[in-house]
Amino acid sequence: MSAILLTGGAGFIGSHTAVELLNAGREVIIADDLSNSEVSVIDRIETITGKRPVFIKADVADASVVEAIFASHDISAVVHFAGFKAVGESVAKPLEYYRNNLDTALTVLETMRRHDCRHFIFSSSATVYGDNSAAPFSEESPTGNCTNPYGWTKYMIEQILQGTGKAYPEMAIAILRYFNPIGAHESGLIGEKPNGIPNNLLPYITQTAAGIRKQLSVFGNDYPTKDGTGVRDYIHVVDLAKGHLAALNYAEKNTGVQVFNLGTGTGYSVLEMVESFKRVNNVDVPYAIAPRRPGDIAECYAEAKKARELLGWHAEKNLDDMCRDAWRWQQNC
Ligand code: WQD
Repeated sequence: MSAILLTGGAGFIGSHTAVELLNAGREVIIADDLSNSEVSVIDRIETITGKRPVFIKADVADASVVEAIFASHDISAVVHFAGFKAVGESVAKPLEYYRNNLDTALTVLETMRRHDCRHFIFSSSATVYGDNSAAPFSEESPTGNCTNPYGWTKYMIEQILQGTGKAYPEMAIAILRYFNPIGAHESGLIGEKPNGIPNNLLPYITQTAAGIRKQLSVFGNDYPTKDGTGVRDYIHVVDLAKGHLAALNYAEKNTGVQVFNLGTGTGYSVLEMVESFKRVNNVDVPYAIAPRRPGDIAECYAEAKKARELLGWHAEKNLDDMCRDAWRWQQNC
């Protein structure tokens, strides 16, 4: 049976996607340099599914390494997660972000072409919508004017994929624009493990509830939103992972390039998230209002109907599920 290659598959989204693919009976190969993940994740994926993915420690920007992977395995599709993803870090280290994120994508795509591997699922981000229009964002909403180098790398790779799909019409390319992935697998065995001080809201909330952080800073309460704080489309990482399986199934039956929003279509404010987390888990989350964070927009949530119509996929888990599963992971990790 041919295998699905997950580059960066030991990471937060990748590991959850590996679980869903293995549970669906797919053969999975994970290639990951472990720069933002740990090899123990492979054992945990096996514990959850009863099946062990092939694991290769690899920098997939290295053409000889990726060539060796394709030469020694029958790979029918690639789900490409590998890349740096911290917005703030990308502002401080733009050259590293452009080099790493573009090199990994280009190296994998070039190798796929040499081996006539035709299915490519790309981990993109709603950040490509920038502040070009108002939420809800549909796949046809304008993109570009990204507010950070991380977002620009996603935007640039999307352009590379559009051109690749035009030149090679036999390929099937799905560009998945994630909104705000949060939560963790219900086992509490895999989840998000940010290096250092968390940039994102939910890991900061869970670490504050755990006493690791003193209090949460709420970045601005003067936005034109329901309660003045930022509104985002939070999606459970397991729903997101299932969206990748749906996109893979779609790509195996179609050709061409398609963009899909993977979001719930519902926006929640920072304060709504804090209050939900406290209620669901019966914990306190001390917070203080702080100045706006540069680059933040007021509202970002999805028009999610295209994935429902073409992929037969929609998010099923609610905010309480996300808060409960995130807290269980924080207590286990
Ligand atoms: C959410 C809301 C903040 C932290 C980014 C990337 C996106 C994706 C998800 C990778 C905002 C507020 C946050 C805090 C706060 N990443 N906040 N205090 O910025 O919407 O999206 O992460 O793919 O590409 O752009 O997510 O979790 O950082 O912020 O008040 O300590 O929480 O202002 O309104 P964001 P976030």
